[in-house]
Amino acid sequence: MEDQRGHWSSSFGFVLAATGSAVGLGNLWKFPFVTWENSGGAFVLIYLVCIAAVGLPIMMAELLIGRKAQKSPVGALKAAVGPAWGIVGGWGVLCGFILLSYYTVIAGWSLFYFSKTLGWTAGGFPTDLQMGDLFGEQVSNGGLQVGLSLLFSIATVSIVYFGVQKGIERIAKIFLPILFSILLLMLISAARMEGFGESLAFIFIPHFGELEPAGILEALGHAFFTLSLGMGAMITYGSYLERRQSIVKSAGIIVLLDTIIGLVAATIMFAVIFSVAGMEEQVSGSTVGMLFISLPQLFYTEVPFGTILGPLFYLLIALAALTSTISLLEVVASYVIDEHGVGRHKATVLCGATIFIFTILSALSFGAVDGLSTFEIFQGKPGWFSTADHFVSNWMLPTGGFAITMAAGWFMTRESTMAELAGESEPAWFSYEVWRFFIRFVAPAAVASIIIAVMFFGTDFS
Ligand code: TRP
Repeated sequence: MEDQRGHWSSSFGFVLAATGSAVGLGNLWKFPFVTWENSGGAFVLIYLVCIAAVGLPIMMAELLIGRKAQKSPVGALKAAVGPAWGIVGGWGVLCGFILLSYYTVIAGWSLFYFSKTLGWTAGGFPTDLQMGDLFGEQVSNGGLQVGLSLLFSIATVSIVYFGVQKGIERIAKIFLPILFSILLLMLISAARMEGFGESLAFIFIPHFGELEPAGILEALGHAFFTLSLGMGAMITYGSYLERRQSIVKSAGIIVLLDTIIGLVAATIMFAVIFSVAGMEEQVSGSTVGMLFISLPQLFYTEVPFGTILGPLFYLLIALAALTSTISLLEVVASYVIDEHGVGRHKATVLCGATIFIFTILSALSFGAVDGLSTFEIFQGKPGWFSTADHFVSNWMLPTGGFAITMAAGWFMTRESTMAELAGESEPAWFSYEVWRFFIRFVAPAAVASIIIAVMFFGTDFS
């Protein structure tokens, strides 16, 4: 069995794959709008503290559990912590299943806007087109939504099908450099825009008076989401690591890259928005739509080299989303492979197809099918998509994350975690004792505060 499991070919390949998992719609779509809603600076500062104090230690914990056990989440938690902990792994697999089913729908939107912007670049931008209307029409067109997400699902399955090295790692090695390059080009273009200074000031100068207490918890919730933590994705990727590959160094790089990419994405978007008179007010009406409603036409009117950068930008979103969806599918597929002895090819197709059934429900919940679009289990979250997102972001990731801090901080012995983290190859900035303090006390207290906020104060992180 052990020999059949894949391995990353190098630490570099692993770091790119894990960064690909972390960098996704969370960075490019969610982070800019939650930063916007929370008035920038102070929120960003709190978010950075959450990343360092909670995200980084949990990232190390997940990777160490995976590497130690060399198994996917269910088997890994059973082996590294104890038989009952398989339930936490199962919770993670379920979470991956649900998250993938709706994430694919938004990923599909990026394909739609990629093809639209390509068309505009080739044939000219139709100045009389209302972006809000275009968005409304595409999301409520059931056939289109199912088609787009089917394309995306097929792409996801066909990568995971080829396994860890030949599929996931190889794609990450190609896509991530492209992604970094596109983002860099966009940053250079944004730096030439009038609103660039204002954008930097908005993001990096904290005004604490403007931050609501709920914003603090939202920052913590987003730290989980953006780093792909709380559901065993990093346990899974860690399980393909060989012992000589350093966890601490890799975790540091992954977290740093993910954070920089979120900040750069926000900087670019706000630079565009601040450069257009009156845009600010328009955006606050539809922050979720920032990426798909406010931005598209601005490439053709405001952004230097926008006709080229427009399609590139939506391509960037699609690539970033794809390196995340493959990691989500890998969580589910590796469970079926490791725990049920199913072969990889069969497992990926089977899991991909089953998840897609639920993708259809999400895809039709933006107005295409009434019953799916309007029912409300969580107040103010109508429809299948919002319900699923609310449940995952507010309930599943925080509870899963809490369990993982407990596992690594309290249920695994000091010797066993130390053996994974405190090798000779660990960098000078790392101290095992500091990590242990954070994973035992700081991270669980912070995560418990999210759960309590969700349960008793109805705070919403989705
Ligand atoms: N981190 C991803 C993003 O920012 C979303 C995500 C959350 C994820 N958990 C995951 C991706 C697990 C892959 C695996 O878009």
